[in-house]
Amino acid sequence: QELALELEMLEKGGYDHFMLKEIYEQPRSIRDCMRGRIYPNEGKVQLGGIKDYADKLKNIDRIIIVACGTSWHAGLVGEYLIEEYARIPVEVEYASEFRYRNPIISEKDIVIAISQSGETADTMAAIELAKERGATIFGICNVAGSSIPRISDAGVYTHAGPEIGVASTKAFTAQVTVLTLMAFFMAQQRGTIKESALVSLLTELDSIPDLVDKCLKADNHIIEIATALKDSSNCLFLGRGSGFPVALEGALKLKEISYIHAEGYPAAEMKHGPIALIDAEMPVIVIATRNSSYEKVISNIQEVKARKGIVIAIVTEGDKEVRKMADYVIEIPDANEAFLPLLATIPLQLLSYHIAVMRGCNVDQPRNLAKSVTVE
Ligand code: G6P
Repeated sequence: QELALELEMLEKGGYDHFMLKEIYEQPRSIRDCMRGRIYPNEGKVQLGGIKDYADKLKNIDRIIIVACGTSWHAGLVGEYLIEEYARIPVEVEYASEFRYRNPIISEKDIVIAISQSGETADTMAAIELAKERGATIFGICNVAGSSIPRISDAGVYTHAGPEIGVASTKAFTAQVTVLTLMAFFMAQQRGTIKESALVSLLTELDSIPDLVDKCLKADNHIIEIATALKDSSNCLFLGRGSGFPVALEGALKLKEISYIHAEGYPAAEMKHGPIALIDAEMPVIVIATRNSSYEKVISNIQEVKARKGIVIAIVTEGDKEVRKMADYVIEIPDANEAFLPLLATIPLQLLSYHIAVMRGCNVDQPRNLAKSVTVE
C-alpha cells in the first residue's frame, strides 16, 4: 500500500493533486501544441491535419462547432477568433442539442467537433448526423487514436498529454490554442489577414507560454483570495467578448470541484437578471483586462459595488483604475485581446482549485462527474 501511495505521488510529480500538476503544466502543454505549427518570422501557420482542406476553406459558408462541457467553452472562444480573423460565420452548439434538432447543414459547411477524450457520446452522434448531411468534419481532440479522430475527415490534435483530473484545465487551454491556430490558418488561406499582422500575432503567440508562466506566479495571492471566498454559497463570473467564455469556464470549474453554485454571464446581461442577486454576500469575479470593452466592464463593476457585491477583478498588469474599485485584483500580463482567454483562464483555475481544497473536496474526482461521458 505504501508503494502504491509512493507511485501516486510520483505520478503527481510532487503536486498534491493531478489538477494542480496539470494547471502548472500549461506553459509546456501550450508550447507542445504550437510546436512545428507556427513560423512567426514568416508569418505562417502550418496545420498538417487540415492542409488538404485549404482550398475548401476558401469557399465555405459557415462553420458549426459542436462540443460538450469545457470543450464547448473552447468552442465559444473559437467562434470569436474565427469570425474576427477568418471572417467566416460560426455557430457553436451543444452536441446534445444539435443531434436532436433537425439542423440545416450542407456540403459547404465545416463542422468542428471538440473533445478532450474523443469519446463523448453526444459529440460523436452530432458528428454522424452532420456527416450524413454532407458536412466536412474537423476534429480537435487530445487523446490520439480515440473515436472522434477516427470518424472525422481531418483534424488537429491538442497534444496536451494525458489529463487525469476530471475538471479539464490543460486540455482546455490546448483546445483554445488549436482554435487560435485554426483561425489564423483559415485567415491565411482566405486572405483576410495581412502577412505583417500575422507576423506580429504569431510572434506574440510564441511568447504566450512564458506569459502563462507569469500568471502562475500569482498563486500565493490567489490563495489569500480563496481564503476569503471559500465559505460563499454563490459566485458570479462576468466577462465580455472573448472574456465571456472565460467567465463561463471559470464558473464551471468552481461548481465542478468546490460545489459552490456559480454562474458565468456576459457582463452586459447582468442587468437582465443576475443583478437581483447581488448583495454583500455575493462574490463577483470580473474579467476586466485593458481591452476593447474595458470602459464598459468598469461600469459593470460600479454597478456591482453600488450593491455591495465583493469584486474580484482579473486585470492587466499595472492597472490602476479597477484597483480603486475592486476588493481584490489579480494581474495578468498585457497581451493582444486574441490571447486573453489563454491568460485569464489560469488564475480562475487556481482560484477554484484552492477553494475546493480548502473546502475539503475531492478535487481530482468530484462527486457525480466522469472524465469521459460515453453514454447519453
Ligand atoms: C465531461 C468532463 C468535462 C468535459 C466534458 C466533455 O463532462 O467531466 O471535463 O469537458 O465531459 O468531454 P470531452 O472529452 O468531449 O471534451
